Amino acid sequence: MADTVPSPDGAGSPGRGRYGEQVFRPDRQGEADRIDLGALAYDDTTMARLRALGAGPGWTCLDVGAGTGTVARRLLAEAEVAGVLAVDRDVRFLASHPVPGLTVLQADVTAGDFAPGLFRLVHARFVLMHLPSPQRMVARLSRLLAPGGVLVVSDAVDLTTASAPRTPYTRAMRAMWEGLRDSIGTDVSLVPRHPELLREAGLEGVAAEIHVPPLLPGSPISRFWADTWERARGAMVGTGLVDDAELDEAVRCLASSRCTGLSPGMLTAWGWKSPA
Ligand SMILES: C[S@@+](CC[C@H](N)C(=O)[O-])C[C@H]1O[C@@H](n2cnc3c(N)ncnc32)[C@H](O)[C@@H]1O
Repeated sequence: MADTVPSPDGAGSPGRGRYGEQVFRPDRQGEADRIDLGALAYDDTTMARLRALGAGPGWTCLDVGAGTGTVARRLLAEAEVAGVLAVDRDVRFLASHPVPGLTVLQADVTAGDFAPGLFRLVHARFVLMHLPSPQRMVARLSRLLAPGGVLVVSDAVDLTTASAPRTPYTRAMRAMWEGLRDSIGTDVSLVPRHPELLREAGLEGVAAEIHVPPLLPGSPISRFWADTWERARGAMVGTGLVDDAELDEAVRCLASSRCTGLSPGMLTAWGWKSPA
């Protein structure tokens, strides 16, 4: 269990900002494949939203915590944007797939001197939930928007509510969120506040939506959670909410057609900087 209570903006969560140091180490075999499974599950939804917001020729884009760069490359190939600056603390996966228009920058986006310029689109998916003070990050990312630009942030929302069925899947999902919070500080409890944070940052036309991919056997999202649980097994079992046998049962359930649980959803919120 966490031994400190996060401040309202999440800045005090234990382990906050330590993504990649323990559970999701980029040098551990298969980490790029795991990120790509998540991308396969969510990229079409992300791209549809970015296109609907107008991403297209002439747009300059910043992808924060770009991972393996699937969104950055699709923005270039499909939306034909002018260029994408893909930033990550660890760029080994980005650097291995260079494409024209893609610029890769290794940087810690929480560092005080992170100021890569102004962009028509600033996008951050599954990043803020891992960082200290999402509130501060939203304010900072808003300042990177050119006049008339749009900030788009996506993060996970936990759907294992108190009324969810008590299945191995549900117990494993709860253990995952608690274990990740205790070990690396990931906190999804604040994600429903993202639209409010965008408004507080002075953005206009703020709106949000949630996509929940179906947990079909063998689907990218089912394989993504099974792989994520393997990597987080120590942290999950450490919560006392599941033991190894129950976790194995939950993984088998995910691979079968018996899994009736809901995957965490992806909440996407966006807001515009005034054109003036
Ligand atoms: C869950 S992955 C998401 C990757 C990608 N955005 C996607 O949705 O496929 C989180 C990414 O954020 C990066 N990251 C975490 N903390 C960071 C920081 N402080 N500065 C820059 N990147 C960071 C990680 O290295 C990782 O690539």
